[in-house]
Amino acid sequence: MARTALVTGGTRGIGAAISRALQAAGYRVAANYAGNDEAARAFSAATGIPAFRWSVAEPEACIEGIAKVESELGPVEILVNNAGITRDAMFHKMTREQWREVIDTNLNGLFNMTHPVWPGMRERRFGRVINISSINGQKGQAGQANYSAAKAGDLGFTKALAQEGARAGITVNAICPGYIATEMVMAVPEKMRQTIIGQIPVGRLGEPEEIARCAVFLASDDAGFITGATLAANGGQYMV
Ligand code: CAA
Repeated sequence: MARTALVTGGTRGIGAAISRALQAAGYRVAANYAGNDEAARAFSAATGIPAFRWSVAEPEACIEGIAKVESELGPVEILVNNAGITRDAMFHKMTREQWREVIDTNLNGLFNMTHPVWPGMRERRFGRVINISSINGQKGQAGQANYSAAKAGDLGFTKALAQEGARAGITVNAICPGYIATEMVMAVPEKMRQTIIGQIPVGRLGEPEEIARCAVFLASDDAGFITGATLAANGGQYMV
């Protein structure tokens, strides 16, 4: 029977591309989203992928939401922690609220979502956890002390959990997208975006599908020997 995959932030941007690509690869897919009902409805109508609304920043909502997904689609065997937000500001202007919101979603969200599915993955001796970090978690970005901290934290989480899951057949990996043509990047002022594109050796923004293909690979049985890895897909903008 097809495995069930749950993609957070799975109805828009990179997450929507991942949901679609996993569906095309034969998985049963559930897409979580936080607030944009209209986009979620359009996404579900176009793809047939059910969308479930809750915030990954709220632990109890995650427990309830995952239980609902599992009762409808079966145990979550692939979890893609994709949901993420930006609240960009130079640090001297950054409010506690901007700091907290980004840490709650982009870092605490990984705990909130992974903790409820982890025992089942351990029992079944199979699991795939794929965390969508960012180039800016690797290199840091002015105006994103909150986001860079959270995304760097996602990489530490990935490496620690990979060690715990390895003997139980669970792989835990991170993808670090560079600048991808999504609403999040389009919100960066045009002039700044052109400067960024100038720093990308391949000379363009990435496409969401280019990240989705990485996720499909990491979810596959073929990727069973890859764990704790950070897969950079950034057009050569940052090489570690
Ligand atoms: N490094 C150092 N200093 C910088 C800087 C940089 N890269 N960019 C700007 N500054 C300085 C400016 O020179 C200025 O200094 P002075 O006041 O001394 O002149 C100061 O910072 C303020 O700059 P701004 O005029 O830009 O400040 P602002 O308050 O109007 O805007 C901002 C701040 C909203 C953070 C804006 O700079 C911005 O949008 N930056 C983009 C940050 C970015 O790249 N975000 C990525 C979003 S996409 C994403 O996150 C997806 C992903 O994973 C890749």
